[in-house]
Amino acid sequence: MSQNSIQQLQIFLDIATEAVMTAGVVLQNNWNKLEEIEEKGKPGDLVTEADKQAEKAIIQVLNRHVPEHSILAEESGKLGAIESEYLWAIDPLDGTTNYAHGYPVSAVSVGLMIDGVPQVGAVYNPFRNELFRAAKGLGASCNRRPIQVSQTQELSKSLLVTGFAYDRRETTDNNYAEFCYLTHLTQGVRRSGSASLDLTDVACGRLDGYWERGLSPWDITAGIVIVEEAGGKVTAYDGSEIQLNSGRILATNGHIHQSLSQALLETPSLASWQAN
Ligand code: IPD
Ligand code: CA
Ligand code: CA
Repeated sequence: MSQNSIQQLQIFLDIATEAVMTAGVVLQNNWNKLEEIEEKGKPGDLVTEADKQAEKAIIQVLNRHVPEHSILAEESGKLGAIESEYLWAIDPLDGTTNYAHGYPVSAVSVGLMIDGVPQVGAVYNPFRNELFRAAKGLGASCNRRPIQVSQTQELSKSLLVTGFAYDRRETTDNNYAEFCYLTHLTQGVRRSGSASLDLTDVACGRLDGYWERGLSPWDITAGIVIVEEAGGKVTAYDGSEIQLNSGRILATNGHIHQSLSQALLETPSLASWQAN
């Protein structure tokens, strides 16, 4: 991997920050004023003019500062140099279903992978005016104050969060069994509808762990850096190195990582545990 100095990462972090804040204004301006809500493909997978405008605003910021970098944007796909070692993963509106319904739980997420590894991330929640930021080796912050993961040591005392992908009606691998099993084993499992906020909530200790399947790199690139820099752990379900294209993530405060991993791997079918 190429050497990126701390100063270089700081510059990229400032660019990510400018991008999410610019898009945040777009989300605020369109709030409860949507005229067009389309379904993209799978039932319930929505796109609004806010998603499109916010993405455009982010791409403009990146093109102004780092035109030589590549971009992977949810609504526009892959843009720019194919060979670049720098790839920005953009989710202009993470939590579109919430936003389209007027439920104020959504965020803008902009992360940078360098040679495939998430290294810089910014997530902005315009509804709480919370800006989460992190870069490798620089720590994680919320509104410029350092943040840390929780100290919860046991799965039975934990509060978790998860989500359900848009293909949930087409597969039995839809996370329903895991959701019920973990609800059984913990103090609760929440479902916010915004993967990036699930990750930042783990990073700042509001939640102890998060898992999900069916995700895309733009949902999680920024959040991964923020959790790791806040002292948390991010892996595949089985504890091995996360593969961004697998769509699966397990992110925790570190203390409950192994027990949550084990629970996910041993989740019984819905029918069997309901009977016990
Ligand atoms: C979705 C949200 C949701 C997760 C879905 C994502 P979108 O992103 O992050 O929490 O469960 O899998 O696709 O469509 O609102 O950008
Ligand atoms: Ca998303
Ligand atoms: Ca989105």
